[in-house]
Amino acid sequence: MIGEGLVKVLLEHADVIRARAGAPIRLAAVADKDPARLDIVRALDPSVALLDDAFELAKRDDIDIVVELIGGVDVAERLVRAALEAKKHVVTANKALLAERGAALFDLAAANGCDLYFEAAVAGAIPVIRVIRESLASDHIRSVRGIINGTSNYILSSMANEGAAFADALKAAQEAGFAEADPTLDITGGDAGHKLALIAGLAFGARVLPSDFLTEGIEKVDPRDIQYARNFGYVIRPLAVAERLESGALDLRVHPALVPKSDPLAHVDGALNAVAIQGEMVGSSFLSGLGAGAGPTATSVAGDVIDIAKNTLAGAPVRRWHLPSEGEPELQSIADLSSRYYLRFSVRDESGVLASLSGKLSDSGISIEVMVQDRDAGEDGTATIAILTHHAREGEIRASLNAIDDTHLTTAPTHLIRIVE
Ligand code: HSE
Repeated sequence: MIGEGLVKVLLEHADVIRARAGAPIRLAAVADKDPARLDIVRALDPSVALLDDAFELAKRDDIDIVVELIGGVDVAERLVRAALEAKKHVVTANKALLAERGAALFDLAAANGCDLYFEAAVAGAIPVIRVIRESLASDHIRSVRGIINGTSNYILSSMANEGAAFADALKAAQEAGFAEADPTLDITGGDAGHKLALIAGLAFGARVLPSDFLTEGIEKVDPRDIQYARNFGYVIRPLAVAERLESGALDLRVHPALVPKSDPLAHVDGALNAVAIQGEMVGSSFLSGLGAGAGPTATSVAGDVIDIAKNTLAGAPVRRWHLPSEGEPELQSIADLSSRYYLRFSVRDESGVLASLSGKLSDSGISIEVMVQDRDAGEDGTATIAILTHHAREGEIRASLNAIDDTHLTTAPTHLIRIVE
């Protein structure tokens, strides 16, 4: 649990925190609706006030900073609003809240002269928020792409490296504390979508909701895809992409992707996250680290708390982080994406099937780069065909695959994974 991790960081690292902040930071109170979860705090420091109502925190005079770690959107929003209206600074790790309702909350924070910090909301221990809004503040960001869901990366890595079954790998990720309370957010791409919306706001000033762009999860990735990808020289990674195109439109998308084995992202295994940022002046930066788990996430939260404490001690006015919003940006539709694709067809193993299939792709202007056919083990009369295409427009590919799957050629819907290079 991140809350427990934060309590430990604040109490057990009090010396270094005091030295870096320039004053002690006191953990005044902790709230949890489940009193049993507060035992650990009681054991570590009996002087900390223990509450069963988080809204009490916002009312207390001895509190300057409220940390919201309850997750979800509705209650968390009410708590953050209550804290900001009571003129408390807020630190949150809640990407769902900020992605869905962040614009109004940042306005509320500014109106109340308070800070709203959220480094832990994206990529856990990797300081991606600070790098984009501070270190690269002078640059035009071209693209941000990376692995920003540790659970998905852990599952795909376990499937690839240990031959683990999807369900077993997910269970292990949950037990290790990487997954969201509702792990469907991890495996369907929702969690990465929340984070990408925040990244798009910071990097491009774009006010976007996760529902504005494609978020595709890893749940349909099959062990056969991992094997074919490996044989073709790729690994499958859960990717998030935010790119400013030459046209000025933004390309935003979350989906599993084939990444060449030579790409640094191919070496980001397990629950690790990584973010590659391209800027006009800085060129390419690559950040990698633990993106999930109590310790890394709590450390990011504590870093924000320390930053706010330093601002407060220096009497610094509240900082504005966001680029002036460009409002609703033009987003490239996924149909207009030009990419190379991996396609896996389940077909009847009969004369003429391969020729018909490649003919139909060719009729749509889709050019095949590599093709492999395997007879399905244990199946009668069926085969699997795996293809890498040259660049094609996704609209054309989709139309062609729909037409192919409407014929008697395939025995199951064709599976498509984009290649990202
Ligand atoms: N469930 C998230 C992940 C935790 O797996 O990346 C960090 O946001």
